[in-house]
Amino acid sequence: MKTLRAMRILTGAAAKNCRMPLTMILFLLILPRYQAKSVKFQPSDPKIVNIADKVDFHCSHNDSSLNVMLWYQQTETGMMNLIGYNYVGSEAVYEKPFESSFKMTRTNTQTGGLSINSVTTSDSAVYFCAGSAQ
Ligand SMILES: *[C@@H]1O[C@H](CO)[C@@H](O)[C@H](O)[C@H]1NC(C)=O
Repeated sequence: MKTLRAMRILTGAAAKNCRMPLTMILFLLILPRYQAKSVKFQPSDPKIVNIADKVDFHCSHNDSSLNVMLWYQQTETGMMNLIGYNYVGSEAVYEKPFESSFKMTRTNTQTGGLSINSVTTSDSAVYFCAGSAQ
């Protein structure tokens, strides 16, 4: 069983001499699911941030049987990349491209987070949080 929710970052271009900050917009969507059991993921509000900011995504749901929390990044080309996953009480496991600037946290079975330490335009993507029983 796996449930996904998505968060998207968009980065704009800015001229070098211009003080206008790059904007990043975050939103999420709930994808259709194929299991009979229904899980509710708590949505979060859109955010606007500047480049080099720290960005935090929060993920929470109401199913205490989803021990694993996974994070995915979908780039503009449609590629879906696994960022990593974690269990409650153990260290997160990261995929190589994400281990230096991404950090996953897990408060409890139903709550976790992903942060990007200093966002760049290459972080422009849709971010998914997923829960899995194992
Ligand atoms: C989670 O929320 C959904 C939608 O409100 C509900 O159908 C489901 O029964 C809830 N699951 C649990 C474990 O409470």
